[in-house]
Amino acid sequence: MKLKELKVLTQLKLSKIYGIKESRSIFHLLLNEILGIDVINFHVHAEKKISLDSVELFNEKISLIEKEIPVQYVIGYVMIEGLKIFVDKSVLIPRPETVDLCKWIIQKKLNGKVILDIGTGSGLIALLLKKKFNNCTIHAWDNSTKALGIAKKNAEQNSLEINFDNVDILKNHDPKIKFDLIVSNPPYVHKKEKNSISNVVLKNEPNEAIFVNGDDDLLFYKAIINFSKSCLKDNGIIFFECHKETINQVKNLLIINKFIDVELKKDSFGINRMIQAKNYGYA
Ligand SMILES: C[S@@+](CC[C@H](N)C(=O)[O-])C[C@H]1O[C@@H](n2cnc3c(N)ncnc32)[C@H](O)[C@@H]1O
Repeated sequence: MKLKELKVLTQLKLSKIYGIKESRSIFHLLLNEILGIDVINFHVHAEKKISLDSVELFNEKISLIEKEIPVQYVIGYVMIEGLKIFVDKSVLIPRPETVDLCKWIIQKKLNGKVILDIGTGSGLIALLLKKKFNNCTIHAWDNSTKALGIAKKNAEQNSLEINFDNVDILKNHDPKIKFDLIVSNPPYVHKKEKNSISNVVLKNEPNEAIFVNGDDDLLFYKAIINFSKSCLKDNGIIFFECHKETINQVKNLLIINKFIDVELKKDSFGINRMIQAKNYGYA
């Protein structure tokens, strides 16, 4: 079979579930993974015949993706900003808007600072910040033992030193250290939104990473802001990723809690998605 025929066949199988654009990107991810051929080289080698073994391997992966398993879990990792980040069903697949959040944070002068990532999941935020600011001390917390296992593996594989801890941020916790910066992309989707979320996400990604338990959409923001009262240094900064529908409520929450310089920012899709604020000081 020629490469270009494999592409047509793949798109035919997947476009019913994923649409044409996403099927094309899934094809190229698999091609790169299985045959080491990137998009540019695909066009150079489109007429090239591929071995039966490779076609079989390709089809094996395609049949998993047809069962609505995300390509990132099938391949087992994502590449972000030069980091290989392993993912499985115990962690949320890193989203582009979270990378936008990291790029915003990275604009700060953070050399030597002590940073905490709450709800680290795959470790995405902690890893990207440590890669940029190697002399920062980074702490990363999650209440999922499995997620922490993946995050630790990601830190090791990328040779980045991060202090991981199993912490439930909804319970009282006194770490006995103060942070210069606290960042979190917490669960922020209300359960009533389940109907509007794709099956691929609902069936595979950890629901506890996505949805807030109970009726208070702001549960995690409240807990983290409350925690920051004792653990964020004066003039320390807090960064959140937010739901576009509740970001203004998070903003109000920060203002009520005496945070200053509250700033919202759009992600690369043009959606108001992230917020930063400075701790005025509670001493
Ligand atoms: C939206 S995911 C973010 C994952 C990762 N930081 C990212 O941006 O890709 C939320 C994370 O919060 C964790 N989490 C949920 N409830 C928690 C709790 N009570 N305490 C600490 N972490 C929690 C989940 O396990 C999940 O990894």
